[in-house]
Amino acid sequence: MNSGTFISFEGIDGAGKSTHIARVADVFRQAGRAVVSTREPGGTPLSEKLREMVLHEPMDPLTEALLMFAARREHLVQVIEPALARGDVVLCDRFTDATFAYQGGGRGFDWQVLAHLERMVQGLPSGGVRQPDLTVWFDLDPQIAAERLASARVPDKFESQPVDFFAAVRAAYARRQSEMPRRFARIDAAQSMAAVGQDVARVVDQWLAGVRP
Ligand code: TYD
Repeated sequence: MNSGTFISFEGIDGAGKSTHIARVADVFRQAGRAVVSTREPGGTPLSEKLREMVLHEPMDPLTEALLMFAARREHLVQVIEPALARGDVVLCDRFTDATFAYQGGGRGFDWQVLAHLERMVQGLPSGGVRQPDLTVWFDLDPQIAAERLASARVPDKFESQPVDFFAAVRAAYARRQSEMPRRFARIDAAQSMAAVGQDVARVVDQWLAGVRP
């Protein structure tokens, strides 16, 4: 059963998702909904341990992809599916589109193999594959993202990748959008923080009102 609402937030590093996710959580809470705000890789004690490894240790691309899906499986079983069954709103900072974007686009890992893993890990008893109901994609030119990140924090393994890597990540997000256009809402993340916030609020409002991207 799925009476909840599952929204994921995606984009290259430096696109500035975090503040906006917190605001969306507030809007739902004010409307009386229970909100589970979570992230990938991570979201359970085991998945957070896997996050530490995958974000900081060099490894083979297949190992990296498998660890992302291993962390996701735990997260789905322990947190996301129970929350959706309760009717909660699940706000997830990244989900499977990030694996297609980073491991598929960025690392060049085989798209079909990722699609196979996706079906295994996110398969539902009803036969479908769990996907977010809505994905808010913060789309940004990788050069602008790099400038934003340079002034921010100590980079992790992915954040320290060159601009070309993020151009490939961005292209893979666009490919995912073209494969599943009805759940993807693209936001122009080059705008001011306030304008991006307005766009995010509008996209979520429209989606709740039944308007699909
Ligand atoms: P991010 O979500 O940006 O968190 P923070 O803001 O704390 O840095 O970091 C997660 C990183 O993991 C990001 O660089 C993207 C990467 N990632 C993948 O490569 N594959 C995945 O499947 C997921 C979920 C994330």
